[in-house]
Amino acid sequence: MRFVTIFFLQSVLHSASTQAKEINKLFGIFTIAAVLLLLFVSSLIIYICIRFRDKPGNPIPVQIGKNNRIELLMFLFPTVMIAIFLVLTIRTINRVMKPARGQPDVIITGHQWWWEVYYPATGVTAANEIHLPVNRNLLIEFHSADVVHDWWVPEFGNKMDVVPGKNNHIWLNITNAGNYVGACSEFCGAEHAWMRIRVFAEEEPAYQTWLDANKKTASIPSDELAMRGMILFQSASCGSCHRISGTFSKANIGPDLSHIFSRTTMLSGMMPMNEKNLHAWISDPQLVKPDSKMPDFIFSRDSVNAIVHYLTQLK
Ligand code: CUA
Repeated sequence: MRFVTIFFLQSVLHSASTQAKEINKLFGIFTIAAVLLLLFVSSLIIYICIRFRDKPGNPIPVQIGKNNRIELLMFLFPTVMIAIFLVLTIRTINRVMKPARGQPDVIITGHQWWWEVYYPATGVTAANEIHLPVNRNLLIEFHSADVVHDWWVPEFGNKMDVVPGKNNHIWLNITNAGNYVGACSEFCGAEHAWMRIRVFAEEEPAYQTWLDANKKTASIPSDELAMRGMILFQSASCGSCHRISGTFSKANIGPDLSHIFSRTTMLSGMMPMNEKNLHAWISDPQLVKPDSKMPDFIFSRDSVNAIVHYLTQLK
């Protein structure tokens, strides 16, 4: 089955956070040093090859067994270079990877194969699409619900393993508003490739608007079909895995669906969020995302229509 996916350019060279800028500064210094060294060594080799090449009738050159000064230089030069790189690296690590303090701003939990996003200060829960404010030093904590995942949005620089039983963290100060894409960067099973990350970095007012909208209890069905969808959702035990605020569904094995239709994509960035894709997904989850934890309920077409209609009202 083929779905259109929206791709954005991902590049580590484009820094969108103060942490990425620090890392890229270090990368720049390393690159310049490496290029200079390459130019120096290759020029020397070319010069030697031309200047001292063999010509007919040349005598065998004087054979030198050892030269203490050159050997000392060969030892000292790399040692000093490595020492400088070490100091620069430690300085960057200290600037980027500060210890955690206080309550995290966001807790991101890796699941097979989606991301749970929790904002402790407001109690808001979202999935896969992460809204973050710009120009704020954010403490982000990572939990895993099952296996090792890895959180990485190249433009933010920081990359962090998401390990069961160990809560890692990063500090992140996003400097440019915009949409950023990343992916789980540690093989975590069949659908590892479809564990994408989407970050909406917003100015404070837009971020607060999003937060306020997501703090609200899920919408109540506004028509008969949606009401039938909600009843089906509850009776078919969808709520054993999902949460919809204000209803009996309170689990978090699958993504929180309280505001599902406000998201732009579904299944961790696998496809755009729309009625057609929701229909395909609920009709045959294992065909759309094989091995995912979503079971096939073998709903009738009408039932799927009702559930999808209900979900589209959860904005
Ligand atoms: Cu999660 Cu790879």
